[in-house]
Order: sequence, then structure tokens, then C-alpha cells
Amino acid sequence: MHTLLIATLLLPLAQQPDTVPAGDASAGAGVYARKLCRMCHGEQGEGGYGPDIAGGRGLTFAQFQRAIWKPRIGTGLVYNGNMPFYSKRQISEKHMADLFAFVRSLEPVSEPGSWHWMPAPASASIGQRYYMQGYGCGQCHEPENKFGRMWLGEYAKEVDYEYFAKQIYEHEEKRPGGGMPLWTRETLPEDHMREIYKWMVLEIGMRASIGGVLTVAEQKGDQTDFNLALSNRGVENVGLDAEGLTVFVKVPPQAKVVNGSGPGYEGVMPLAELGLLPGLPLAPHAHDTTGHVERPEQDLSGDVLVWKVPKLVAAEKVALSFSLSGATPSDELFEAFDGSTVHWESPGRRVKGSPPIMVYRDLRVPDKGDHERIFVVRPQQ
Ligand code: HEC
Ligand code: HEC
Repeated sequence: MHTLLIATLLLPLAQQPDTVPAGDASAGAGVYARKLCRMCHGEQGEGGYGPDIAGGRGLTFAQFQRAIWKPRIGTGLVYNGNMPFYSKRQISEKHMADLFAFVRSLEPVSEPGSWHWMPAPASASIGQRYYMQGYGCGQCHEPENKFGRMWLGEYAKEVDYEYFAKQIYEHEEKRPGGGMPLWTRETLPEDHMREIYKWMVLEIGMRASIGGVLTVAEQKGDQTDFNLALSNRGVENVGLDAEGLTVFVKVPPQAKVVNGSGPGYEGVMPLAELGLLPGLPLAPHAHDTTGHVERPEQDLSGDVLVWKVPKLVAAEKVALSFSLSGATPSDELFEAFDGSTVHWESPGRRVKGSPPIMVYRDLRVPDKGDHERIFVVRPQQ
């Protein structure tokens, strides 16, 4: 015992027993993905809004832990580039060891990666600039917080500044297992939070929480029946109501429409005549210094099944359905449904023509109303 202790003390520094707890790099990869570190530090730790951390940057385990658990106080400037912090409930000691092992297993880079979503241009509201460059919110939420504004819309009548600030400062209380890290009134001062609120809630506006889910109901012979569940996920009497809805489902080129039914069914027409564009998936984009982004070319060929629903109030559900022939469920068939969309005229995203604003790719369609892509459920094979 005694000799062992002396032997340990006599070892050169590099051979001191490792104080790094054994971590599991592949479990760490899971934490890195679930806790969304990747949105700021890159999929392979190559960096982005945050510095590259692949290889560990030479940080000791203690330095690494501190970077994640201990809130840092920023400078309060717009471009401070702070990292939010995580509590021990969000990232446990075990997670920390796994994360460290994962990060150290990655190949260091010589060139840091680029931001997942670009900074807001100088012409953008100050609130959006705090959100994009000040605190990195937009790296997870994209430039307009499409989903965050929808979650707020589910509780619209209760949403004021206090409600909004609570979702962020006390986020962990509501969603202990969630993917969002933490800020305090010191790391994100209230005057900045108010500007973010003004821009996100008062300027662009909350969104109605509308969803369309397409499933296969039955397949018999050459005919396949589909259900389309349209719903407003807002809380009854509290969430936003949507008005003037148009639902369209793309008819796969190999299929024929046998029938369509449900409230507001209008029939089949060429998509090009409908006057609405299919929603696009969210995808990071570049823009010029004014925030201008090009609208991508859209494929408007083919027919669509159309329903018009005058109003869908919070918590309301509507069942729509249709049958196709020559449409045996296959990957090709489900891909052909892609771009089927629910549009609603009101409430729309409140757009100001100028100064130029940053938009998310999904909304680079004529700026009226709002929309959501229909979610297609593929049956288990
Ligand atoms: C909102 C963006 C964002 C998220 C999410 C984020 N980071 Fe960071 N991270 C940063 C920024 C920005 C810095 C640089 C902070 C500074 O210089 O003060 C940083 C710094 C770090 C550092 C210290 C690097 C150094 O050289 O000191 C480590 C380690 C780190 N982050 C790991 C993580 C891990 C692990 C996660 C997920 C659990 C994570 N980060 C999530 C933005 C983020
Ligand atoms: C590391 C990724 C990440 C960052 C950075 C981030 N969020 Fe979130 N945010 C989430 C996730 C994930 C959710 C969904 C709830 C959950 O899983 O915790 C969420 C939820 C929200 C909601 C909805 C809350 C509700 O339940 O009504 C709002 C509003 C929001 N975030 C605003 C912000 C703001 C403002 C910032 C910057 C100060 C920010 N977020 C930064 C990931 C992030």
C-alpha cells in the first residue's frame, strides 16, 4: 500500500492515473444528437455557430464539464455568441463522460464548419439578430422559429411577454427531458428577451397548430383507401383558430382517383390551376447581406385532390378520405405524395415587405396565409 502510493507520486505527470471517467463514445454520440449540440458545433464536431470541438480542443475533462454545466455571463452585446448551459438533470455525470469520449474520438478539423443557419442581415429586427447571432436560438429553431411559434399558438390566448419568457427561463420545469438548454436572466438579460418576444410574437406572429396526417386505411386488390386526419392541435378555446383552409393531396402519376370524401371535398384538378404552391421541407440556406433569398423553382405538374374547409377551431379534428386505384403502397407511391399541403388564409405570417426580412425556405411561397406539409405515414413493411 505504502510503496504503491510513493510509486504513484513518483510517476511523471503524463502517467498520473487518469481522472477522466470512462465514457462510452457511442452513447455520447446519442447525447450529442439528442441534446442538439450538433446544431451549433456541427454533426462531427467541426464547428458552426460554436467553435469546432472535434478532438476535444485540448480541454481537460474539468474544463469540458465547466463549459457545459456552468452558465457564463455574456457581454450583453448582440454578437456575443454565448453557449447556453445545461443542468445536471439535463446532462448527467454519466452523459458528460460519454460526451467527452465522443468528442475526443472525432477527427480534429483545420477549417471550422459554417453556421447551420446564416446570421440575420443588418436590416433585420434587433430581436431577430439577438435570436440568430446573439444567442444562437436560430441554430436549432431556424430563422423564424416556425415550430416554436406554433407551440405558442396552441396557447395563444395565454401568451404574453411573461408566458413567453417563462418558456425559456423556466424551460426545464415544463420539459425536463427536452432538447432545449438553459439561460438565466444574467446570461440572457430581459431587455434582450423582450426584443426577441416583440419580433417573434408581435411582429411575425404565432402560428395556428394545424396538421394533416395521411395514412393507408385499407388495401383491397387494385384499390387503396387513404385517411387524411386534419386537426388543429391548439388547446380548446385558447389556441389559435385557422380560417380559409385548402387541403391538397398530390395524385401519384401512376394512380387514378376512385373517389374522395369528407367535408369540403371539391374534386380533382391540375395543381397548376389551384394557385397554391406545395410546401417545401425546411433546409438551411444562404442569403445575401440584405437577407434576400431566391425562391426555388417548384414542380407544378400533375393533379391534386382538393378540400376546402372554411374554419378549423382549436382542438377540432376533421376526417377526410380518398381512394386510388393502381396505387399499391410502395416507396415510390409515398414519395409521390410529398409536397401535399394544408394552406390557411388566416392567421397568416405577418410579413413586412421592407426592410427585407429573413425567411425560412418553407415559406418562400407567395406571402399570404400560412401552411404546413402533410405528414405521410408509411405502413410498416
Ligand atoms: C446555441 C448554440 C450552442 C449549443 C446548443 C451548444 N453549444 Fe457549445 N458552445 C457554443 C458557443 C457559441 C461556444 C463558445 C462560447 C465562448 O466562447 O464563450 C461554445 C463552447 C463550447 C465548449 C468550450 C469550447 C472551448 O474551447 O472552451 C464546449 C466543450 C462545448 N461548447 C460543448 C457543447 C456540448 C457538448 C453541447 C451539447 C450538450 C453544446 N456545446 C451545445 C454554442 C453552443
Ligand atoms: C439546442 C437547441 C435549442 C436552442 C439553442 C434553443 N431552443 Fe428553443 N426549443 C428547443 C426544443 C427542442 C424545444 C421543444 C421543447 C424541448 O424539447 O425542450 C424548444 C422550444 C422552444 C419554444 C416553445 C416553448 C413552448 O413549449 O411553448 C420557444 C418559444 C423557444 N424554444 C424559444 C427559444 C429561444 C428564444 C431561444 C434562444 C434564446 C431558443 N429557443 C433556443 C431547442 C432549442
